[in-house]
Amino acid sequence: MPSGRLSVVVTRRLPDVVETRLKELFDVRLRDDDTPMTREELAAALREADVLVPTLNDHIDSGLIGQAGPNLRLIANYGAGVDHIDVATARQRGIQVSNTPGVLTEDTADMTMALILAVTRRIPEGLAVMQSGQWHGWSPTAFLGGRVSGRRLGILGMGRIGQAVARRANAFGMQVHYHNRRRLREETEDALQATYWESLDQMVARMDVLSINCPHTPSTFHLMNARRLKLMKPSAVIVNTSRGEVIDENALTRMLKAGELAGAGLDVYEHGSEANPDLRAMTNVVMLPHMGSATVEGRIEMGEKVIINIKTFADGHRPPDLVLQ
Ligand code: DGY
Repeated sequence: MPSGRLSVVVTRRLPDVVETRLKELFDVRLRDDDTPMTREELAAALREADVLVPTLNDHIDSGLIGQAGPNLRLIANYGAGVDHIDVATARQRGIQVSNTPGVLTEDTADMTMALILAVTRRIPEGLAVMQSGQWHGWSPTAFLGGRVSGRRLGILGMGRIGQAVARRANAFGMQVHYHNRRRLREETEDALQATYWESLDQMVARMDVLSINCPHTPSTFHLMNARRLKLMKPSAVIVNTSRGEVIDENALTRMLKAGELAGAGLDVYEHGSEANPDLRAMTNVVMLPHMGSATVEGRIEMGEKVIINIKTFADGHRPPDLVLQ
């Protein structure tokens, strides 16, 4: 199929350079304003396109996939996580799904460290005092946080991003521990100075900081449920830059309110932008609007990956970032 004639529908505004390149290569329909498509608009896009480029805002479930037109052959997701797409149903219908792994690893790991530091060193509280003009000079007892160096960091999910977090944590003098479906090779563990815990419960109970870095799948949904959250030390902090659904957000909120956990750094929420409002009122909770991968470079590289996946597919080959589930 000649790539120039491929009809590509993009569901969201993308960085200008990415949109320009897409226009050069394909018969592309871009979005005029930066809002997610409605379900009706998504259904129409699926009917008309050869290739759909969605983002994590688009819930492409089996109902929508059932409405796809006969030409739809590739869903080239702009993003690494594909928990918003029913990949199994798509594949059954002969529609391939690709994503953009690798290019947001370092940025997301940076944001994980930023949240660890922000929560443990109380950075937002300091910022708020400066912004309100209420700082009256240095005090031996003000804004005391916890020392990061020497603390035990438990990484839940030791894929690319988890490993990038481990490298950073080493540089900060943290002791790195991890739980993963599969244990890493010994050389990798040695290089990351990481201790493996087969039992997630046991790891969780001993950590000072727990970082969620596993994807959201049916088996990781609420992996940090109320029971497991209660295993954490009351002095511990939890940080999530992965997907909100991995933590039972209501249980977490209750525990933070009750002082059963020291703090949380959250970039993602169980119900997307509808974070539990009680979290917003807590000074020991640092909340960000899902910006872990939000660097200019990262978002352009994500676009480049999308383009490579579409072009490879158009040339009759298997897209390099095909999602196999
Ligand atoms: C992804 O690509 O899945 C990220 O969550 C976007 O930041």
